Amino acid sequence: MAFDRFAQDYAKNGKAQLNAAKKLMQLSITKPDMSILDIGCGEGKVTNELKKLTNNRVIGIDPSQNMIKLAKERFANSGIDFYTMPAAEVEVLGKFDVIFCNSVFHWLSHHQSLLKMGYNILNAGGVFALQTPSTPRWCPFINDALDFTLQAPSLHHVGKFYKTPWTYFETEENYICLFEQVGFEVTYCEIMRIPMKCSIDEIIAIFDSGCSAAFFDPKNYSCVIDEDYEKSFRAIFKENIEKMASSNLVNIEFKRLFLIAQKPVENL
Ligand SMILES: C[S@@+](CC[C@H](N)C(=O)[O-])C[C@H]1O[C@@H](n2cnc3c(N)ncnc32)[C@H](O)[C@@H]1O
Repeated sequence: MAFDRFAQDYAKNGKAQLNAAKKLMQLSITKPDMSILDIGCGEGKVTNELKKLTNNRVIGIDPSQNMIKLAKERFANSGIDFYTMPAAEVEVLGKFDVIFCNSVFHWLSHHQSLLKMGYNILNAGGVFALQTPSTPRWCPFINDALDFTLQAPSLHHVGKFYKTPWTYFETEENYICLFEQVGFEVTYCEIMRIPMKCSIDEIIAIFDSGCSAAFFDPKNYSCVIDEDYEKSFRAIFKENIEKMASSNLVNIEFKRLFLIAQKPVENL
């Protein structure tokens, strides 16, 4: 699984995702007794924050064995149940008041059938809380640095065969439509621009909080990757950031979609 190799890196570097998750919690965790399913929970730091907001059950699932192993170690006494499981199998876990899906949706496929399943396992009045990058240009500074890296003369023979594993639906209307098609009522939807001032090392840490799992997964290249590809990629990516940055601190901006969809109460 792509994230297995990067579980430790994610635990250290996934700060932008944690900040976005806290915003999503404010929008979705409205009562102190909500049962919560955290889909794609990673190494559990977001799930642990969710657990602090409820006295009801909290479950985290993720298909990466190493992520779940780390989550179980880090949050052993938290009362959270963690399972190694992809989103497609969550129906066995029973019903919830909140499905929390932070920085995961772009990694998934078959979105419609997953949303239908999510709808089925929510209690009436329950909510699906989504935060995801919504466009291929989710952070133009980093996207440019990655594009220049794939196109670098020494990497282009491999870089041209990269195919992104991520899916984006681009506009608020498209995301709303996806949820409405399976019966949800969308009560909140906004693509937010989130500015950050980052050092060059912090930008590399952001790369290591998810991007690296995509760019160093051989499955995302329709050619064989040479042994030193990752090392060369990392060196050229860093050089590109240094060239693009006018000082050691760079202003970057993320575009993140926040959406809250409710299962109507009349379906009781
Ligand atoms: C960027 S991390 C986000 C982790 C966590 N939600 C957070 O906000 O810190 C993306 C996670 O999605 C998980 N993932 C990838 N494919 C998935 C799938 N099919 N079902 C559930 N989770 C998946 C990965 O293993 C990874 O842990």
